[in-house]
Amino acid sequence: MEQKQIILTGDRPTGKLHVGHYVGSLKERVKLQNSGKFDEIYIMIADAQALTDNAEHPEKVRQNIIQVALDYLACGLDPDKSTIFIQSMVPELTELTFYYMNLVTVSRVQRNPTVKAEIKMRNFEASIPVGFFCYPISQAADITAFRATTVPVGEDQMPMIEQCKEIVHKFNSVYGETLTDPKIVLPDNEACLRLPGIDGKAKMSKSLGNCIYLSDEAKDIKTKVMSMYTDPNHIRVEDPGQVDGNPVFIYLDAFCKPEYFEEFLPDYNNLDELKDHYKRGGLGDVKVKKFLNNVMQAELEPIRERRKSWEKRLPDVYDILRKGSEIAEKKAAETLSDVRKAMQIDYFDNGTL
Ligand code: TRP
Repeated sequence: MEQKQIILTGDRPTGKLHVGHYVGSLKERVKLQNSGKFDEIYIMIADAQALTDNAEHPEKVRQNIIQVALDYLACGLDPDKSTIFIQSMVPELTELTFYYMNLVTVSRVQRNPTVKAEIKMRNFEASIPVGFFCYPISQAADITAFRATTVPVGEDQMPMIEQCKEIVHKFNSVYGETLTDPKIVLPDNEACLRLPGIDGKAKMSKSLGNCIYLSDEAKDIKTKVMSMYTDPNHIRVEDPGQVDGNPVFIYLDAFCKPEYFEEFLPDYNNLDELKDHYKRGGLGDVKVKKFLNNVMQAELEPIRERRKSWEKRLPDVYDILRKGSEIAEKKAAETLSDVRKAMQIDYFDNGTL
């Protein structure tokens, strides 16, 4: 039998999703969803993972579940094609995590670069919550519970998928072939891998206040784009400008489609021509930003409108999550049963001990 093609991915509900999430992962998911190449697609709102560093703020996690669900639907994730569910509503994931913990050493988790960076960012060095420390293991449970073959995520999640693969190999070698080895899918456009904040800082993040949100109104997007950090040495229009590492051009690389030139900036045929002019000098930041604003508005308007129409149907969104969580639990329970059998802890399944 051909192996089923299955997607699992997700996000922590700690805030609304922004354009970094969109180009880094959401856009790819929608593309894969609509490719018709996948038998099953699971999109998880990772509330349990969000609680690993928000244990004292459960209300924050709870409120953001619906926000993330709205962002998903706004981007074009389709509940008829993708099962959207809430992590903690699938308790099988916790049990799998507990078994996988025995296959991973403390030092291996300590070496995970994403965990390392996050511990530093949160000033957790002296007091890491054990649950937070173990979240890469729980993430391996998320992926394997659904027998995911494909995990479309942002670049920062790469170490998680590597760690998941190690757990799969270890489990299968100890207990026999049981779990499916997943493959990571990153966006192929480099600008999409790590979209900087509007302030030019390496990462878009809510705490830095440098995000453009999928739910932002047109006027807010404009204000943000017009205030974007550019090349600090490009002071007068005549000055030659730097394109590499310049957020305005990184955003254009991520969002601009060829047809936008004809529509909004017909003096240029394509992005290369625009970049060349900027590098030569004689092209002002305001002109580039106005163009970027038009591009961002064109890309984000349909998403915002779709979000607004789902906002009027919150009971339907609730139903999508409830039904999705039921479907997800069934699937995870099947895998858990295989895992218990492989581990010889399926005591009451065949009437003998
Ligand atoms: N760690 C992801 C994030 O920070 C969320 C997540 C949890 C996830 N489990 C996953 C992503 C499994 C992909 C696969 O957003």
